[in-house]
Amino acid sequence: MEARYLELAIQAAREAGRIQKARFGHSNRVELKGEINPVTEVDLLCERIISETILNTFPDHDLFTEETSFKGKGSRWRWIVDPLDGTTNYIHRFPFFAVSIGLEVDGVMELGVAYDPVRDELFHAARGTGAFLNGQRIHVSETEDLGQSLLCTGFPYDVRENINDYLSYFRQFIMKGFALRRPGSAVLDLCHLAAGHFDGFWEFKLHPWDVAAGSLIVTEAGGQVTGITGQPFSIYSKDILASNGLIHPQMIEAIQEVEPHGLKPVAPPHASEGRNPPKHTLLRSFRASKGTLSAFIHGLRDRGFLRRRVKSERTGQKA
Ligand code: IPD
Ligand code: CA
Ligand code: CA
Repeated sequence: MEARYLELAIQAAREAGRIQKARFGHSNRVELKGEINPVTEVDLLCERIISETILNTFPDHDLFTEETSFKGKGSRWRWIVDPLDGTTNYIHRFPFFAVSIGLEVDGVMELGVAYDPVRDELFHAARGTGAFLNGQRIHVSETEDLGQSLLCTGFPYDVRENINDYLSYFRQFIMKGFALRRPGSAVLDLCHLAAGHFDGFWEFKLHPWDVAAGSLIVTEAGGQVTGITGQPFSIYSKDILASNGLIHPQMIEAIQEVEPHGLKPVAPPHASEGRNPPKHTLLRSFRASKGTLSAFIHGLRDRGFLRRRVKSERTGQKA
């Protein structure tokens, strides 16, 4: 991977992070994409800055970002961007969020950059060259026993519709691990796994922009990333199981004990996931809503098919 791609990703991530830090705790406009799925003007501004930075240098590259539908150009290079991962934390002034930028070349993840502006921590990895935190090589932990492991997870935005399913996995890992955290930024969860702070992570229904950079950073730090039941991982698969590798079989075993009552892993969708959903996806969404209209509408919103414009201002102080 040529150094200029990494340099560009770092430049864009640092610039977005600077904005996030400068506006953290200030009054930022918030809209809801789903019942509990927020986007702020900072997400949008950061996405614009990152996109412009990339396109000014590489106008023929493709962009796949959380908040904007860019028309595909059929490029070999595809930048996958979450401008602000951890928006719920951000609007509540909980200082745990990051910028995430990944680069896929010919369908293979080649580069991942994640920047935590609060701690000024920059994680990066290029395929085959290791993972780094502020320039220092990082490695996953050496914990061998699930019972001694610090685990982390997150909940997707349809958590209220499938609460029992998610809680059954949550419960299982509270019982099997040493302790469990839910920090609220998938990319930072993965980066802290890569740095050896967490030993294992799982989550359902993530998007490519949530996991593109972080999954490469984990594997380059010596960790293992698969689907939730151990199947090969793709950033388009939605479900993820990541660990230091040593506890991976124990995590799969624990998940398999839950599976009969739990969510079924989601089949990898087409790479254009989230854009102009095909009819069968809408049908699946309707079935998943178990037939109620309001659950169906929430489901569509949470999948980004509908956007509810609810404007709310947050001041620096919580109400
Ligand atoms: C969310 C965060 C969170 C995870 C959610 C993600 P966003 O991303 O990564 O930790 O649990 O599933 O959607 O919406 O803040 O970019
Ligand atoms: Ca995200
Ligand atoms: Ca985001």
